[in-house]
Amino acid sequence: MNIAELKHAQAGYVNTPLEYMPALTRELGGGPLYIKRDDLTGLALGGNKARKLNYIVQYALDNGYTALMTFGGVQTNHGRLTAAAAIRFGLKPILVLKGARPERLSGNLLLDRLMGSDIYFVDSSALDALPEEEREAAKSRHLEKCAARIIAEYEARGDRVLSIPVGGQTVIGSAGYVQAIPEIMRQMEEQSIQARYLVVGYGSTGTFAGLWAGAKYYHAPFEVIGIPIEPDYRPREETAAFINELSAFFDMGFTCSAGDLHLECGPAETPYGGVGYNEPDPVTQRHIELLARTEAIFADPCYTGKVFRGFTDLVRRGMLPGGAILMHTGGAPGLWSQEHLDPMQELFWSDETADRVHVMKA
Ligand SMILES: Cc1ncc(COP(=O)(O)O)c(C=O)c1O
Repeated sequence: MNIAELKHAQAGYVNTPLEYMPALTRELGGGPLYIKRDDLTGLALGGNKARKLNYIVQYALDNGYTALMTFGGVQTNHGRLTAAAAIRFGLKPILVLKGARPERLSGNLLLDRLMGSDIYFVDSSALDALPEEEREAAKSRHLEKCAARIIAEYEARGDRVLSIPVGGQTVIGSAGYVQAIPEIMRQMEEQSIQARYLVVGYGSTGTFAGLWAGAKYYHAPFEVIGIPIEPDYRPREETAAFINELSAFFDMGFTCSAGDLHLECGPAETPYGGVGYNEPDPVTQRHIELLARTEAIFADPCYTGKVFRGFTDLVRRGMLPGGAILMHTGGAPGLWSQEHLDPMQELFWSDETADRVHVMKA
C-alpha cells in the first residue's frame, strides 16, 4: 500500500507552521534553531496525536466502529485528543485512565469532562502490596479485564468499540508522522531553511518512529533524534521492530535495527526525562520558562518541557551544528494540572521570585 495515497480524515490540521526561533538562537548560540508547531494542530487545543488520529478515525469510520476507546495516565493528552476526534466524527469517546480518581478536576481531565467523555479510572493501588516481581503483571491483567468489561458493556448496547493503544501507537496512526516529513521538507525548501537535525520526544514512540521512517523513506536532509520523556524508556529494539512493521505494512522497502536509532537521554544521573513519568521537577520547569521567555511558546511539564531541556543541552554542547528543528508535540493543558501547578507556586510565585510582580495599593 502506498502511504502517500492512504485515505485519512481531518480530525486536526496538518501544515503546521515551521518557525525560526531568533531569540532562543541568540540566547543559546549555535543554531539556527527552528520549531515545528505541532502544538497547533487545532484539535481540542492541539498536539501530536491529531496527525495519528487523522488516520485512526478514517480506519474507524471505514470499519463501522461507533466508539473510540483509549488508555493513558490520568492527564493523558492523547486521551483528550482521542475524545475530541470521536466527538467531531459522531463517535462515542471512552477514556480508560490508569490511576485513582483525583480529588480535584484539572488540566486535561477538565477538558475530557467538558467534552462529555465516558471516563473509567482503573485504580490498581490495592495491588501495590504484591511482591515487586508480580506487581506489574497483575496490574496489566487488571487493566485488560477492566477494558474487556467496558467493551462488553458497550457492545451489549449495540456499539462497536475501537480500542486504541496508549499514545495511539499503531502502524496506521504512525502514518500521520511519516507523512509529516514531506511537509517539513517542502516548508524547508519554501523558506530556504537548512537543518541537519529534527529533535522529537520519545514516549510511546509512534511519533518518533513515524518521523524516523518518513525521513528514511523520503530521503530527508536531516537526522531524527529522539529524547526519552522519562528515565525508564521503551527499549530501542522494540521501536526498531515497530519501524520494521511500519515499513513492511506500507511497502517502504527498508529495514531498521536498534543501532540505527539515535536517542539522546542526557547524563545518567540527571537524564533529560527528569525523575519519572509526569513527575514535576524544577529543571524542566526552568526550561518551560526559558522557551516562554524567549519565544512566547509554551512547553508542558510531562513531554515537551523535557524534550526542550534535551534540545537546549545538545545545542549548548555543540551537538546540533548546521541548524536544528524542535518538534513541538503539544501538551500545554498539563501546565494547569494540579500535580504541576502546586510545585510551580514555589518556583514562580514565592517571595524570592517576586521581583517582577508588583502590588500597587490605593
Ligand atoms: C504532548 C505530547 N508530546 C509527546 C508525546 C509522545 O509521543 P509518542 O507517544 O508518540 O512517543 C505525547 C504522548 O502522549 C504527548 O502527549
